[in-house]
Amino acid sequence: MPTATSFDVSAIRKDFPILAQEVYGKPLVYLDNAATSQKPKCVIDAVTHFYLMDNANVHRGLHQLSERSTEAFEAARSKVQRFVNAEKTREIIFVRGATEGINLVAQTYGRSRVGAGDEIVISTLEHHSNIVPWQMLCEEKGAVLRVVPINDRGEMEFDQLEKLLNRRTRLVAVAHVSNALGTINPVREIVRTAHRFNVPVLIDGAQAVPHMKVDVRNLDCDFYVFSGHKVFGPTGVGVLYGKEQLLESMPPYQGGGDMIRSVTFEKTTYNELPHKFEAGTPNIAGVIGLGAAIDYLNEIDMDAVAAHEIDLLQYATQALERIPGLRLLGTAREKAGVLSFLIDGVHPHDAGTVLDREGVAVRTGHHCAQPVMDRFGIPATTRASLAFYNTREDIDALVAGIHKVKEVFGA
Ligand code: ALA
Repeated sequence: MPTATSFDVSAIRKDFPILAQEVYGKPLVYLDNAATSQKPKCVIDAVTHFYLMDNANVHRGLHQLSERSTEAFEAARSKVQRFVNAEKTREIIFVRGATEGINLVAQTYGRSRVGAGDEIVISTLEHHSNIVPWQMLCEEKGAVLRVVPINDRGEMEFDQLEKLLNRRTRLVAVAHVSNALGTINPVREIVRTAHRFNVPVLIDGAQAVPHMKVDVRNLDCDFYVFSGHKVFGPTGVGVLYGKEQLLESMPPYQGGGDMIRSVTFEKTTYNELPHKFEAGTPNIAGVIGLGAAIDYLNEIDMDAVAAHEIDLLQYATQALERIPGLRLLGTAREKAGVLSFLIDGVHPHDAGTVLDREGVAVRTGHHCAQPVMDRFGIPATTRASLAFYNTREDIDALVAGIHKVKEVFGA
């Protein structure tokens, strides 16, 4: 069983050149990983190598560069397939990010299957990207959005889910890990429960994949989405996993090149999976960079990563709880490395500004999860979010920074 001490964080940090810098004359302490993670040098090198040596469009050219580019692009698809343990590469669709993955499902599965009076079930924990696409769909179709509430710890009230499911439910869409609170949802149980009602489940895994092993077959989810940039890959690339049968039965998303088999003015026929959902020139460099990020993660023991992050989270939670006037939001029993907090008498934006001057990068605001803020009756929090390259020293710097905030504002 890996332990926090079996994880060599100083060796890991050397792979992330950006971390070894100072801001405002202080060592950078990067605690905004839920917004975007930093990239190991091998990812940066893979993207650079592609543009230096292999740049060409994919699936289109017979020439050497196009062959190389297509090969690297499709190799990345196989890496993703193995990474999430999907059965087939056909089930892996490249998109711009988790947001686009959810919109794709709303616009294809949703528009073809959801009608007036039908229902979509989400939870209070969701990021706006797993709320708004469903609201738009419901508005268009006259369907109803149902919301599973959360308790004071920020945990989904699981027993309420079952009460919301019925023969009108067309989809359950829930986060694997909450970006605002860090709550880990019992997604396997959610899938099982929904399936008893023959309802498919979409899981927004944007905040889960960087922290834990994800096995879509074990979860038995119908759709799973995540973003490349949160999993140490480039921005502008993400993944939609879907069960083959469902993807086959869905209409295409966008029209354009690559998603067609043949086009005449009378009739267009569509390409096979996964290309049916990948219109236009994709983010080739981004996909290849994501493949490199997965190679990198495959070299790391993800169980050791999880042990290290749990140790950091416990260390940070205890340290923050000791600070007078600080209130932690999100105290779920199953939780990933997110610390959302309020300091009495200090607006989160002011706290973030002072922390920044101390070299500590955090996010402040509603974290694109306004219903979570509403649930707790607050407009915003300050949020520190962890990655495996963070250290106990980073947490000490955060704590020192919070004391500085209190000093500056006399709080
Ligand atoms: N969803 C990202 C966050 O939580 C941007 O910060």
